[in-house]
Amino acid sequence: MMVKQHMLFTLYSICGIVLKGAQGQFPLVQNMTVTEGGIANLTCRVEHNDNTSLQWSNPAQQTLFFGDKKALRDNRIELVRATAQELTISISEVTLGDEGLYTCSLFTMPVKTAKAFLTVLGVPKKPEINGLTKPAKEGDHITLTCVTSGSKPAADVRWFRNEKEIKGAKEVNASGKTFTVKSSLRLQVDRQDDGVAYTCRVDHVALTTTHEDTTQVLEVHYAPIVNIKHSATLPQEGQYLKLECEPQGNPSPDPVLWTKDGGELPDLDHMIVEGRELTFTSLNKTDNGTYRCEATNHLGTSHAEYKLVIYDAPTTPSPSTTSPAPTLPDTTGPLDSKNLNAAVTGNRDPNAQKNVPDHALIGGVVAVVVFATLCLIIVLGRYLARHKGTYLTNEAKGADDAPDADTAIINADGNHAHAEEKKEYFI
Ligand SMILES: *[C@@H]1O[C@H](CO)[C@@H](O)[C@H](O)[C@H]1NC(C)=O
Ligand SMILES: *[C@@H]1O[C@H](CO)[C@@H](O)[C@H](O)[C@H]1NC(C)=O
Ligand SMILES: *[C@@H]1O[C@H](CO)[C@@H](O)[C@H](O)[C@H]1NC(C)=O
Ligand SMILES: *[C@@H]1O[C@H](CO)[C@@H](O)[C@H](O)[C@H]1NC(C)=O
Ligand SMILES: *[C@@H]1O[C@H](CO)[C@@H](O)[C@H](O)[C@H]1NC(C)=O
Ligand SMILES: *[C@@H]1O[C@H](CO)[C@@H](O)[C@H](O)[C@H]1NC(C)=O
Repeated sequence: MMVKQHMLFTLYSICGIVLKGAQGQFPLVQNMTVTEGGIANLTCRVEHNDNTSLQWSNPAQQTLFFGDKKALRDNRIELVRATAQELTISISEVTLGDEGLYTCSLFTMPVKTAKAFLTVLGVPKKPEINGLTKPAKEGDHITLTCVTSGSKPAADVRWFRNEKEIKGAKEVNASGKTFTVKSSLRLQVDRQDDGVAYTCRVDHVALTTTHEDTTQVLEVHYAPIVNIKHSATLPQEGQYLKLECEPQGNPSPDPVLWTKDGGELPDLDHMIVEGRELTFTSLNKTDNGTYRCEATNHLGTSHAEYKLVIYDAPTTPSPSTTSPAPTLPDTTGPLDSKNLNAAVTGNRDPNAQKNVPDHALIGGVVAVVVFATLCLIIVLGRYLARHKGTYLTNEAKGADDAPDADTAIINADGNHAHAEEKKEYFI
């Protein structure tokens, strides 16, 4: 029927007939979509109207406006325009309850109506993250849930770990006209998760220019790991040395405990403990031994050890001008393997006894190389004398067949390779 009326209307318009009779009169309306809390304008138009009245009524069939006369007491509903051709009313602070089919009636005989559907979008609430009330312990399984309610249609919920998207398990429940959307993340946390930001983000058609999100920073408690940093690899007598204990743990293990050879640190003026650092202002041979740093938090205790071996200070200037060559310690005590390696590689004294066998070795290698070269020259010489002719023929053949210089080279190469195969065969 709409189509027929529309065709009639078009026909009349084209012919320029101004129709005053009831026959060509019909109301025109449009469906609308409004976000909750917004304003909906309901417009009903009649192209060729005599002074016949228009009326808007709501989904419950209650009359809202009859012409310019308000029929329902509702402060949110106001008249925007009432003319012979148009009746526009507005509904402000639209709620989900306003959704439905609105009717515009034109009081001709018989009454003609048009229906407009008002769709109301539910705005999702700011997402809430649950499951992270207290710090987690390393190895714990935790489930983070993100919930947003009030969306219509159902919102899209996504998880990000430090801004990188990760997949959660989504669940949608209808509650009345709106939806509650939940997304869960199940994690086994480790120390790498400490301080990581988990963001739950909600995207929705009612949030056109923006999105809602909530971020939670994960706190993970873990037992300490200890590392000792030292300021010198080959500590020498009289030198300054700083040992720095670097425990990693959450909560931060503080203070740390320094011990020497399983007992208390000796009370010496040149040995200073300050916070996590143990400083020797001037090393003495008597400082050698094993130093241990121990760190503890409520999840455990851990330690690291540093074997201090003190080398002799250089007594005479070294022949090497740039750096004094460290000598091996004269103590017979156990050596820290790291320090031992450093001592061996660091020895660059050209007069050192242990370098002599190297000279003999080099001499032997040179002799072998010279001998091998001589043999090769002899064999090659014999071969060339016997097969020189083959080479020349092969190369010439490739060049002759070729239509141009480039191809000649290609052909020549190919034949050369062939010749080499032959050479191997003859040897
Ligand atoms: C509704 O109509 C009023 C008056 O014409 C206008 O100011 C307002 O922008 C309209 N609102 C919408 C949502 O179209
Ligand atoms: C409509 O009513 C107005 C006054 O209310 C009058 O001036 C006008 O002539 C009427 N139009 C028609 C087509 O009856
Ligand atoms: C208006 O909305 C109703 C209900 O959703 C639908 O049946 C109808 O086709 C829509 N009309 C237009 C013109 O979009
Ligand atoms: C959805 O409904 C189920 C069953 O009633 C319930 O177990 C679940 O917790 C609900 N989920 C949300 C997100 O409300
Ligand atoms: C090392 O300590 C001993 C006794 O504590 C002292 O006699 C000696 O002079 C010290 N050596 C150096 C190089 O300071
Ligand atoms: C440290 O020096 C003392 C003597 O000063 C010696 O008895 C001990 O074996 C040394 N320990 C180490 C680990 O070098």
